Amino acid sequence: MAQPGVSYLITNAQTVLHQNVLQTVEILVQGEKITGIGKPGELGVPDSGPHAVAVLDAQNHLVLPGLIDPHVHLRDSGVLNVEERQKEDFGSGTKAAVAGGVTTVFDMPNTIPSTTTLSAYHVKRDHAAKTAYCDFGLFAGASKDNVGQIAAIVEAGAVGVKMYVGASTGNLLVCEPNLEEAFFKASAEHGFVLAIHAEDQACLETHAAVYDDKKAPRHNEVRPPECAELAVQRAVNFTRKHHGQTYVCHSSTKAEADLIRSSKSEGLSVFMEITPHHLFLDETESDRQDNRVRMNPPLRSASDVKALWTALNDGTADTIGSDHAPHTLEQKRRPYWEAPSGVPGLETVLPLMVTAALDEKTTLETVLRLCCHNPARIFGLRGKGQLEVGFDADLVFVDLKTKRAVDESKLFTRCGWSPYVGMRLRGWPVKTFLRGQLVFENGIPSGPFGKEVQKEGTNHG
Ligand code: DOR
Ligand code: ZN
Ligand code: ZN
Repeated sequence: MAQPGVSYLITNAQTVLHQNVLQTVEILVQGEKITGIGKPGELGVPDSGPHAVAVLDAQNHLVLPGLIDPHVHLRDSGVLNVEERQKEDFGSGTKAAVAGGVTTVFDMPNTIPSTTTLSAYHVKRDHAAKTAYCDFGLFAGASKDNVGQIAAIVEAGAVGVKMYVGASTGNLLVCEPNLEEAFFKASAEHGFVLAIHAEDQACLETHAAVYDDKKAPRHNEVRPPECAELAVQRAVNFTRKHHGQTYVCHSSTKAEADLIRSSKSEGLSVFMEITPHHLFLDETESDRQDNRVRMNPPLRSASDVKALWTALNDGTADTIGSDHAPHTLEQKRRPYWEAPSGVPGLETVLPLMVTAALDEKTTLETVLRLCCHNPARIFGLRGKGQLEVGFDADLVFVDLKTKRAVDESKLFTRCGWSPYVGMRLRGWPVKTFLRGQLVFENGIPSGPFGKEVQKEGTNHG
């Protein structure tokens, strides 16, 4: 059942009507697509006789479109790097995705080598197409010498361009003002989404110099909120000047939320991504987990966390991106200045967000909008992110009842740990379908069946 080319009718599926209100529907899947949705019995599909369609009982699980995670670091350029491979690769990272109910990921360009040329893009894409368990898009990286070639990489199929205006993992950095502006201009001219790692480099350097290799009190003091605010303020100004599309990755502070809220009310295309770790953990978490929870931007104060929940619920926030950034525990045990930044998160987005909805910190409707609809809309993905006729049958069956602790031994990410270990969550996926095909069931992923996403108005695939 549920193999390619096979038709089946999903019965007893709960879907989100509004807020946390559910309705029971039936969903007809034929080949890779959703071909019918209706109330129970409404589709009139025969379950016996020569035109019979197999019936798949969803047993009253919530059925969502597969999640689209617009921000992951799978550490795999397609060129083998033994050290990076201890953390993740396209196979392990996308097994983690389907196990987490995620059917599309966008991979970031800070791999070794980085995705800053057309040939690096092709090498990564061909490798991912052979090894990915879910569908994928690739970001091109902005560098100090590729602004002239960036449109060609987008034309070849990249989902957008990622620019680091502050240094983080890898060597991508664009911190010369004219060059930074050139990418905002290119976003407008060529119609791509410019995703920003928004921490101002000069501000980061000033603060790091204060500690000068001494143990810092907290990562949030070494890379403070004002560095993020400065970078987002500049991004908003460039967007106003050039009218491109700007996507602020991992927005983590009240100041960023306020800037993005007011830029939206001006009518600018500025989008806000929030990570689960900035919603569910705050700066005090390092007292318990030390460098495990060191990431860029850092965990923030409780008042910043509160402002992010407000932005999530008032329509300011557009997407949830996991910023899945695996590093080995051995590296995380190093002293502060030598430990790498980043936490894994692909497998926990769905249960964290569903649990928050069930605890009434947000709604299932908002989760659906931020995790499915909006990433598809912002990045122009064809056929993704909606439970609608004609869309890809990317589906996840979600158990709303069973409470289960995050268990590191059950994770598929190769780094093998989670900052949420022990947290008891609901909303775990029980089955995941990718374009009609069952890719996760009984705790086991199957594949690889992933393809590169297609963008609206293009024939890339
Ligand atoms: O914490 C982070 N980790 N922030 C980044 O910007 C990069 C990421 C990584 O690649 O490890
Ligand atoms: Zn980043
Ligand atoms: Zn990132």
